Amino acid sequence: MSRRHSQTQEFPHYDASRKELPIYTYREELVEAMNRFQCLIVVGDTGSGKTTQLPQYVLEALPEIRNICVTQPRRIAAISAARRVADERRTRLGEQVGYSIRFERSASSSTRLLYVTDGTLLRSVAADPKVSAYDLVVLDEAHERSLETDVLFGLLRRACRLRPELKVVVMSATLDIDKFSEFFGDAPVFSIPGRMYAVDILWQKKMKLGTAKATFVRRSVDTVLHIHKNEEPGDVLVFLTGQQEIEQATRLLQEAHEALDYVEVRHRSRVHDIAVYPIFSALETLEQRAIFEATPEGVRKIVFATNIAQTSVTIPGIRYVVDSGFVKQKMYDAQTGVDALVVVPISQAAATQRAGRAGRTASGKVYRLYSREAFEDMEPATVPEIQRSSLIGTVLSLKKMGIDDILNFEFIDPPDPDLVVAAIKQLFLLGAVDEHGHLTPLGHQMSEFPISPFLSRVLISAALDFSCSYEALIIASMLSVEEIFATPRGKKKQAAAEESRRRFDDPSGDHLTLLRIFHEWRDYGYSKDWAFSNFIHFRALQAARKVKEQLTEIMERLELPIVTCEVDDREREKKRLRRVEDPDHGRIRKAGICDFGNGRHVDSTPILRAFCTAFYVHTAKRHPQRPVFYPYVTSIGANVPTGQQTPGGSGMSSAHLMALYLHPQSALSTEDINRLDWVIYNDIQYVNRATMRVSSKIRFDWVDVLMGRLKVVDEERLAGRTPATREGRRPSIISAVGEVDSKSEENEENDA
Ligand code: CDP
Ligand code: MG
Repeated sequence: MSRRHSQTQEFPHYDASRKELPIYTYREELVEAMNRFQCLIVVGDTGSGKTTQLPQYVLEALPEIRNICVTQPRRIAAISAARRVADERRTRLGEQVGYSIRFERSASSSTRLLYVTDGTLLRSVAADPKVSAYDLVVLDEAHERSLETDVLFGLLRRACRLRPELKVVVMSATLDIDKFSEFFGDAPVFSIPGRMYAVDILWQKKMKLGTAKATFVRRSVDTVLHIHKNEEPGDVLVFLTGQQEIEQATRLLQEAHEALDYVEVRHRSRVHDIAVYPIFSALETLEQRAIFEATPEGVRKIVFATNIAQTSVTIPGIRYVVDSGFVKQKMYDAQTGVDALVVVPISQAAATQRAGRAGRTASGKVYRLYSREAFEDMEPATVPEIQRSSLIGTVLSLKKMGIDDILNFEFIDPPDPDLVVAAIKQLFLLGAVDEHGHLTPLGHQMSEFPISPFLSRVLISAALDFSCSYEALIIASMLSVEEIFATPRGKKKQAAAEESRRRFDDPSGDHLTLLRIFHEWRDYGYSKDWAFSNFIHFRALQAARKVKEQLTEIMERLELPIVTCEVDDREREKKRLRRVEDPDHGRIRKAGICDFGNGRHVDSTPILRAFCTAFYVHTAKRHPQRPVFYPYVTSIGANVPTGQQTPGGSGMSSAHLMALYLHPQSALSTEDINRLDWVIYNDIQYVNRATMRVSSKIRFDWVDVLMGRLKVVDEERLAGRTPATREGRRPSIISAVGEVDSKSEENEENDA
């Protein structure tokens, strides 16, 4: 106690603000409750201090709880919470308080409080089902119902039975608490009363959903201008759907603000200037600490944000909320294997959360850009992610833990059995499980990698069968990071960026293009200037390099050889194997065969064949007359007949009608379309149409032999179940976003 006292005198600032938080009053009762119960549900409004304070109370009052782990569904939230708490405790990040997210960790042996993403904890529980590394696990943001958090619910419930001394706290911003409590054996619920001020709700008069969706960016900017001109001082938080919409709104607002008549503004409002901040998932945006600081006199802070600002991050000073009524959500269709990002209306619960952001420190207003009727039509709560995601990674983790009967796993809300079966089937097609659904030795190896099972399959085959694991590692790493191409502002710069990007295009497609980019960056000494002048996100490249390092370590641990297929022309003549210098590590063992310009060359064939061993299920064939592709294999397993028959002919389900487009930035998009026949793609993104991301040319005979596995699929046996009814299925993405009919396809072709 005396130590803390002296700290208080030295740094009074944070201690005072910590005491002002609503949770502070309940500090002792909370500690007492945690001491008494194994599982506890803590509910409190966003901003009440759950994430940052509760773990600190444990550090301060319960020394017997040594290791604490707090999960967050978002990387950016885990880092931001860890930083804030380290600051509050005057310790360096990575000492007493740290964080660990995929491929990035700041922690040491003295770390007692670790903020992690739920995915990171899920991977460690897969290796340690008793969760013996921690004495207390806090599942934070439980109301978000992220896929990983939902799986952790089941796993931690199991762990609690295995280890009576383990403590679990589930923290939520008010929703679903009865369900949580019931799931954890009627765990007690500790509720922190909020201090909410009144929030006025303003509705948009009559507005059809379609119109609302097409115009919300523009209308949100108009609303911000209206607030800025007419309302009392106070900052504005605008909920939009994604990076693109946020950048568009930022641009529109800046243009409009420059054109504003200052006399008029001064007349009606006491704030004259604006400071605009975007917040979306890229880590940089939260690094602008100014977002969290008070706005200077006469300036109004305008924050354009995604859902992240709904409950994960609290920005002080907000008095006005503008709610577009939409969110960009992941949706997965087990039938077609399409992972779509779809803009959909939010739920009523989300609307209430968003409105609440306006009344934290004073009374506020929420401008809903939709009508009262539209609100009535919204779903009461958001569908949990587990019911709309691909479960392939989840199922692999569960199998690794020896949980074979996934259909009967204790899920808080079970996913559609079709999603589970589709995932097991994909694992079978990758060779990770046998025909009874049991993990194979290959599957065991694959589960060691913290990347998609598709990519881990590629790495293993690149190492063992195609002698190109060094190249595959680089490509897999580049595929595991965020967007690498920068999109600058302004038409001129965008043209320059496009031109620069084209310079890397490899005739074989995007996989080798990614490799070229990394190689050139490496040859320029991993330079920041190089990245900048080539319109490539330096941070993404750096992240890829880090990912490559970590994947390399896993490969070595699994005794998978790191082999390169890069050779020097002269050496090729001599048919000699050579060591390739890799500044990161000298661990490459031998070289294969290849060819290239200025001395060096990498042959695309072994690399793409290695990718085919997993991505053969993502094979697409071009339509004989038109620049669209059709998936050759769908998740339901049927092969599209080849030859001249056009897709859409008799005997094919609507899943096969899904037309796939090349991504406009694809290296293949500038190829002569007649020279394209078969391609593989990394994934499909559905925004306005189904677009293949990262595609490369292949030869059909590379994948033909692999297709044999499709013929022996027995879904019932794989899932270990008797045939079930297929009633009560969720609508597929196709029906959710509108069927891709041939008419709209033609329109889009005309656009191009
Ligand atoms: O988890 P909960 O929403 O209940 O609250 P919290 O995240 O612990 O936030 C408590 C307070 O700390 C809020 O007033 C935030 O504004 C502040 N905070 C901050 O200033 N910077 C952060 N990175 C995190 C929280
Ligand atoms: Mg929180």
